[in-house]
This record gives sequence, C-alpha cells and structure tokens, in this order.
Amino acid sequence: VKRVPLFSQLTEAQLQAVAQICSKRTYKANTVLFAEKDMGSVFYIVLSGSVKIYTTSNTGEEKILSICKAGESFGELSLIDGKPRSASAQTLEDSVLITLTGQNFLELLRSHFDMTLGIMRELSNRLRDTNQHVYDLTFLDARTRVIKSLIKMANKHGMRSGNIITIKLVLNFDEISQLAGVQKVTLMQVIRDLEEKEILSISPSDFKLDLAKLR
Ligand code: CMP
Repeated sequence: VKRVPLFSQLTEAQLQAVAQICSKRTYKANTVLFAEKDMGSVFYIVLSGSVKIYTTSNTGEEKILSICKAGESFGELSLIDGKPRSASAQTLEDSVLITLTGQNFLELLRSHFDMTLGIMRELSNRLRDTNQHVYDLTFLDARTRVIKSLIKMANKHGMRSGNIITIKLVLNFDEISQLAGVQKVTLMQVIRDLEEKEILSISPSDFKLDLAKLR
C-alpha cells in the first residue's frame, strides 16, 4: 500500500488501517473487470501490470480512453456520482490490483483530505488529457494523431536511452489505433512509413522510436 501515490500522505498507522480494508489480487491478462453501464461497487488501484479503459460503439468498435499503469487508479466516478460505469476496464497483461469497496473508498475520502485532493488531481489530469485528445481529434489529421500517440506512449510507458525510446508492447495494433482514434489501415501506413525512414523499428516484444530522427 505504501507505494501507492494516493496513500503517500498517510502516516504508518493510517497505512496499516487502509491495508486492513484493501484486497490485493492478481488478474490474468485480458480479464474484463467491469463493463460500461454496470453498476459500480469497487475502486481499483494498479500495483503492477496495466488496464485499458475503453468505450464500445453500437457496432462493437472500441475506443480506448486511457491506459492505467502502476500507481494509477480507476473506477471512482460511479462510486462518487452513483451512476453506472462510464467505461469498461480490462487487463492488458497479468496485473496485480488493489480493490476497495465503494463504501470504504468514500469513507477514506471523508476522513483524509489529502486523498480527496489526490483523487481530484487525478481527475484534473484526466480532464486535461481528454481535452487534448478532443483537440487532436478535431484539428489534427490522422497521420499526426498516430505520431502524437506514439510519442505519448513513449513518454508515458517507454524507457529512454539517448535518443532512442524503447516501448514494451502491451497494446496490439488494433488497440494502438483505438487509442489514437484512427482506422487501423491508417496506423499501418504511418508505421510502414516510419519504419522505411528508420524512425521506428518493431520487434515482437517492443518497438523503438528514434526521437532525433522523428523531429
Ligand atoms: P467509472 O465510471 O466508475 O468506471 C469507468 C472508469 O474509467 C471511470 O470510473 C474512470 O475511473 C475511468 N475513466 C472514464 N473515462 C476516462 C477517461 N476519459 N480517461 C481516463 N479514465 C477514464
């Protein structure tokens, strides 16, 4: 529990108390944790692994809204406003998650203002990200959106060494296109082009992005 940023302001005694009401569980890759429109009763914190947050169209197409990595949390909205889940959540790889019941989550927020502030900070970050994405979808062409998404993935999930960023691939190409908000054919065209220019190289487990060449 100590490693969770949301709990970083708690004293040792408070951490102990929080640990008592949390459950920790390992989920296999590709486990659906909940679906959009379900009623929410649980709050999640990612200890390791990653979870995709996505919404599904009437025709079954998916749009990924966000990828939650270690230290990040999700599932708070329906607990706060009592409405159904605003999106679905599925593990992308084997993941260890901490869960809290809705009641315990709200109780913690009531008694620890630092945690409430932590949640508000996370919500603020998400709104900023979402505003940026609305901008990109409105004003940028598909090719630029792909490149921006690759850079964003690199910054958030990559390991940098000089000008080369290595990103471990937990998303497949369908999912990268759902994250960028482009058709898969467009994604593949841009990727092929970047590979030809030796800006991007892809192996089964990761891809490498050359930032200097990209600029
Ligand atoms: P909840 O609505 O309970 O269930 C779905 C969760 O996905 C939601 O709470 C948030 O935690 C998270 N979520 C919803 N929309 C976004 C978004 N645009 N960006 C990041 N996370 C989101």
